Amino acid sequence: MNRKIGVKILGTGSYFPKKILTNADLEKMVDTSDEWISTRTGISERRISEKNEPTSELAYKASIDALMSANIKAECIDLILVATTTPDMLCPSTACFLQMRLGPTFIPAFDLSAACSGFIYGIAVAKAFIESGLYKTILLVGAEELSKFTDWTDRNTCVLFGDGAGAMVLSASQENNDILSVFLGANGIYSNLLFLPAGGSVHPATVHTVNEKMHTIKMHGREVFKIAVPKMVLAATKALELSGKRLDDIKLFIPHQANMRIIEAVAKKMGISMDKVFVNIYKTGNISAATTITALDEAIKTNRVNKNDIVELIAFGGGFTWGAAVIKVT
Ligand SMILES: CC(C)(COP(=O)(O)OP(=O)(O)OC[C@H]1O[C@@H](n2cnc3c(N)ncnc32)[C@H](O)[C@@H]1OP(=O)(O)O)[C@@H](O)C(=O)NCCC(=O)NCCS
Repeated sequence: MNRKIGVKILGTGSYFPKKILTNADLEKMVDTSDEWISTRTGISERRISEKNEPTSELAYKASIDALMSANIKAECIDLILVATTTPDMLCPSTACFLQMRLGPTFIPAFDLSAACSGFIYGIAVAKAFIESGLYKTILLVGAEELSKFTDWTDRNTCVLFGDGAGAMVLSASQENNDILSVFLGANGIYSNLLFLPAGGSVHPATVHTVNEKMHTIKMHGREVFKIAVPKMVLAATKALELSGKRLDDIKLFIPHQANMRIIEAVAKKMGISMDKVFVNIYKTGNISAATTITALDEAIKTNRVNKNDIVELIAFGGGFTWGAAVIKVT
């Protein structure tokens, strides 16, 4: 009798660009203050990529880190998945650029677009591919350069975002199953609350779209906030149910780092004490699909979690999309 194929997390990695943009720097750029940004969002600083440092470059460095932690060579990978909302180009995919840098020629590579929930969607896709037997070892990356799609004159959005990348190597296993559950959701009715209007087929690039700054992120922050909290609670609760675990079994909750007040509201509604919630938003800002994986990687590297601890990743983003995954630390 064939045993069900399990998924083992072999390793994680991350990379942040060197340049730091502080709230004090932003005070010189728009009408804002460190006090406003800190109290309303929890963010003190964020990383910003260089002009000649595309998303695939951050993805590459995070992937090298993950491959080292997994102790395997790039040639062992048989699928590359990149979750991103800020790709190098619309075509080809950032995953193809990453493949070119890493070297495992001919293996399939594609991008996955689910905004800030992208990495959780990626876990679901990787899990399904491995369990089906189609691929054995998958490199899953969340990589973003939101700074390149930000209107740096709009104080409503420019204080929120940053750049970074995280990666995970997942592999088929007969003995282990590290992905205990994944729950995903979406509702396109909210597409007008958080969006990047131009550059696609609705508004192809024109002088008008450039002059109107339509190639940068637009957001109705207050409305996003109101919907983010219940959807993150829903996703976290459903994924927990599916995993068969209880709230107390979770060593660490790793929510999407969009706003400290959202994180606190989710924790309060779920009855989780904040010492069980991972927070690094103060130094990263919102890095969309890269948040949960870079946070997980940091939690592992700083021994905040150890082998076999159960962790829940929770995300919410443009679309709207949401999702959560209960995983076992490798
Ligand atoms: C964006 C966000 C921080 C704004 O906080 P808020 O408490 O809702 O603030 P509001 O949007 O109601 O704005 C309050 C005031 O602050 C002002 N303001 C907005 N950005 C500001 C800034 N950077 N500095 C100073 N003042 C600012 C507004 O203009 C408004 O002024 P007004 O009352 O004179 O009109 C908050 O709504 C939020 O985090 N939303 C979710 C965003 C998010 O998570 N997006 C990604 C999801 S994946």
